[in-house]
Amino acid sequence: MATEEKETVRRAACGVPEAGATDAPGNTPHTTRSTLLHEFRTILQPLTLTDHFPTPQPLEVELGCGDGSFIVEWAQRNPGRNLLGVERLLGRIRKPDKRGRRAGLTNLSLVRIEISYFLEQLLPAASTDAIHVYFPDPWPKVKHARHRLINERFPALARRALKPGGVVHLRTDHVDYFAQMLAVFRADAAFTEVETPADLAAVTTDFEREFNAKGIPTNRSSWRMTGA
Ligand SMILES: C[S@@+](CC[C@H](N)C(=O)[O-])C[C@H]1O[C@@H](n2cnc3c(N)ncnc32)[C@H](O)[C@@H]1O
Repeated sequence: MATEEKETVRRAACGVPEAGATDAPGNTPHTTRSTLLHEFRTILQPLTLTDHFPTPQPLEVELGCGDGSFIVEWAQRNPGRNLLGVERLLGRIRKPDKRGRRAGLTNLSLVRIEISYFLEQLLPAASTDAIHVYFPDPWPKVKHARHRLINERFPALARRALKPGGVVHLRTDHVDYFAQMLAVFRADAAFTEVETPADLAAVTTDFEREFNAKGIPTNRSSWRMTGA
């Protein structure tokens, strides 16, 4: 195979645009992508964001994106931002892949990986404008609470990932977990609580709609990194 041809095949496999491709930001069809689910060449080095998105623009990450009810709609509404969804279950992450491709999104990429490893090893430092964590598993039994994603270690992981001024957005139905979320962020002087923007709160997730339909309200909070 000629070198140029090999490069085309490699780029298509990794979801990278053809050399010289001129995609406009956002939702323009990006014909070389057969899947939005990232195929890792290695998980031993931080991600190269240009492998995920044809256009460099602000990056937002959703941790535990599930079946993508939030991230697909948020990507559609914000073509000037790149959205990266993280989820470990293949059966779930296939849904936003399908819906995102159908919608012709070029500002959506999905990675199937464990969240802690992703935050510690793969997400480049100071790369991210916003982190969304919606309805993370509550681990309601006291003896299992140590498995919660938003624990005392999480703010430091978020600080590493965020650009200065970046924001963490949290939602949960679970009152005790919400108290824990507030406590760990209040304990970190680098974060200041801010209002969740109304346009963001208006985009609900599947879990959120299910809880709200049963009369269980959403607890939400947002934290801006104002210090180092
Ligand atoms: C309760 S669901 C919420 C999904 C979505 N955010 C929503 O609100 O509809 C939590 C999701 O996080 C994923 N998840 C939980 N722990 C994870 C981990 N350590 N790494 C990757 N995904 C994880 C689960 O597979 C699940 O899809």
